[in-house]
This record gives sequence, structure tokens and C-alpha cells, in this order.
Amino acid sequence: MITGDALDLAYLPIQRNFAGDGGKYLTNGMFVAMDPETGVRNVSFHRCQVNGKTRFGTSLHSRRHLWNYARRAKEMGLTKLPVVIVVGCHPLITFGTGLWKGPISADEYESAGGFLGEPLEVVRGVTVPVDIPAHAEMAIEGHLLLDVEEPEGPFGEFTGYASERSTHHAFEVTAILHRKDAFYHSIVGGISDEHTLLLGIAQEARQLKALRVQYPNVKAVHYPKSGTCLLHCYISAKGTAPGEARNIALAALGDNLTLKLVVVVDDDIDVYNEQEVMWAVATRFQADRDTELIKIGMGAILDPSNNAGQTAKLIIDATRKRDPYPRRHTLPVESEAAARDLVSRLLSGSGG
Ligand SMILES: Cc1cc2nc3c(=O)[nH]c(=O)nc-3n(C[C@H](O)[C@H](O)[C@H](O)COP(=O)(O)O)c2cc1C
Repeated sequence: MITGDALDLAYLPIQRNFAGDGGKYLTNGMFVAMDPETGVRNVSFHRCQVNGKTRFGTSLHSRRHLWNYARRAKEMGLTKLPVVIVVGCHPLITFGTGLWKGPISADEYESAGGFLGEPLEVVRGVTVPVDIPAHAEMAIEGHLLLDVEEPEGPFGEFTGYASERSTHHAFEVTAILHRKDAFYHSIVGGISDEHTLLLGIAQEARQLKALRVQYPNVKAVHYPKSGTCLLHCYISAKGTAPGEARNIALAALGDNLTLKLVVVVDDDIDVYNEQEVMWAVATRFQADRDTELIKIGMGAILDPSNNAGQTAKLIIDATRKRDPYPRRHTLPVESEAAARDLVSRLLSGSGG
């Protein structure tokens, strides 16, 4: 444990990710904070730019729960919010807390317990009254300063662009805790698979569940990498009634403001295979009949093509519109397996 005068963020191997970044960035920081009114615990990722021995610059740009905590704490007359930044922990804790999208009233340590199948073991912070997952690799304690604005950014974002956007928050470190021989777990920033998949997979699972409440025939939801795992969405559904694909797409757009393109396909299409989705667009979709355009909606603030946070939204209904539809050519699974087996035996010289 390091506190007081010995504190220096240079102790940690925090690196610069991209030449265009404003400095060295800790990218795998999960901020644990407590609701200033209810004490409910929230966990969310926020990038941390090293701005001094005990200072991080950060951004609450998603304007989500921590931003809401900070705003309310300030309204209550507080000047700082105690926070612990957890670096490196069990993946189920990461998915159950920092990536899980629950309501603001939900305690995310409890949801982590749900993912783990047992209560999350915690220890109390040393310099701040915040609980820390007991087996985390590292924890950086400190305060989010509510009256201070400092330069932060640019940062290579999930869109593949350097983003200048920041809420310019400052974080003052009061302690660095770590396990003996701890791993420093960084996340490659920008449009890396690591960064975008963490964002996309959590949304896919949450949205699938949300859509199935009204549309139980929804089979799968995928946020493809070609759409940064946040801006585009492919949805498959079984036996949609006339017009239903549009309802499903509208529900998805309303449910997640980052989406700007939703493609709905039938359930014989594998949404995780982009070539199949585009094949459905090529053979089941007509542009004059099967699109819907919403000219203005709220969008992902980090999308550089948007207009001050506003973006157009496009729906593509690539489901079959008539029944019967020409039959799709498919090979029996057994025949494909037999052919593969034959080819591999011929190549290895062991059969013919
Ligand atoms: C690696 C990674 C980095 C992230 N960086 C930030 C960030 O710097 N600022 C931010 O507001 N959200 C960032 N996010 C997104 C939020 O952490 C995420 O949306 C989180 O679920 C928000 O939690 P909340 O719903 O409890 O507010 C990041 C996500 C990941 C996976």
C-alpha cells in the first residue's frame, strides 16, 4: 500500500496508447462510487490520463450513473466524491458491474454476486469509505473533484478516431493498493477488439433480453465490429408478422441511443456472420420498400459524423416479405461433414 508523500502514479506501468493521445492513459479503470443519497454502489469504466503524481484527468462522457452521482453530490454542497478505481479483477466481476447496464437504483456489487453465484467478497478502502473487490489486482483510492476542471484528452476512442470530447473531471489519488506480484491489466484502447467487444457484448445481452419482453420471437442481437460494436445492430427474428420487423427495429433504437443502423433478418440468418446478413440484404430487401429513416435522433456523442449529438437513424428490414419465398439452397450438415472428411483424408494421403 502506498499513501502520503510516497504516492506517485509513475509507480504503475501506465502507457501511452496512441501518438495522438493527450498523455499516458490507464484504460482499465473501473470506478466504484456510492450514490451520494442512497449509498448504492455503482461501477463504470472511465479513462484516466496521468496529469501528475497524484492526479488523473478523466471523462464521464457517457453521462451515465457516475456523472449523475457527481451532479447530485455537487447540488448537495459536496466538493468531492470518494471513489476507488479497480484495475484488474475476475471477468465475471467486470461483466457483472462495470459493463452491466442496470437501472441507476441497482447496487452493482449485488449484480456481480448474481454473476458469480455467491456474494462478492469486499474489503473496505483504507483512505476512502468505499468497498473494494477483495481479490482485485490493484485499487487506486481517491476523490473525484467536483469543483475542478482540468485539461484531459484527446484520447483514441472506440470509434477509431482521436476524441477531443471530455467532461474534464479531475481525480486526486490518496492511496495505491495492490496484491503481492500484481498484474497490471491494461485494455488496448481505440477500435481494438478488446475495447469494442467489451462495449458490444454487454449491450447485445442486455438488449436481447429487453426486446424479448415484447417480441419473444427475437432470436439473436449482434453489434458488429464494422459498426464499432455500438453504432450498428443486426437482429434476427422468427416468423415476423407483416410490419413487425420495423417494430422490433424501432424498439431497439429507442432502447439504445448509440444505434444509428438496425438491420432485421429472418432466423435462418446468422447475425454473427456479416456476409450472411449482407446476403439477406441483397436478396430479401428493396430500398424503396424496406427502409425507414428517422432524420433526427439523439446519438452517440463520440460519433464524429453526428451533428452536436444528433444523428439520423436507419432501419433496414431484410426479412422475407412474402410466403412462400424461393427456397434457400442449403447442403445437409452430414454431407458437408462427409465432404470435409474426404478432402482432409485425401490431403493427408490416408484415403481416397
Ligand atoms: C474499456 C472501456 C473504457 C470506457 N471508458 C469510458 C470513459 O472514459 N468515460 C465514460 O463515460 N464511459 C466509458 N466507458 C463506458 C462506460 O464505462 C459504460 O458505459 C458503463 O457501463 C457505464 O456504467 P453506468 O451505466 O453504471 O453509468 C468505457 C467502457 C469500456 C469498456
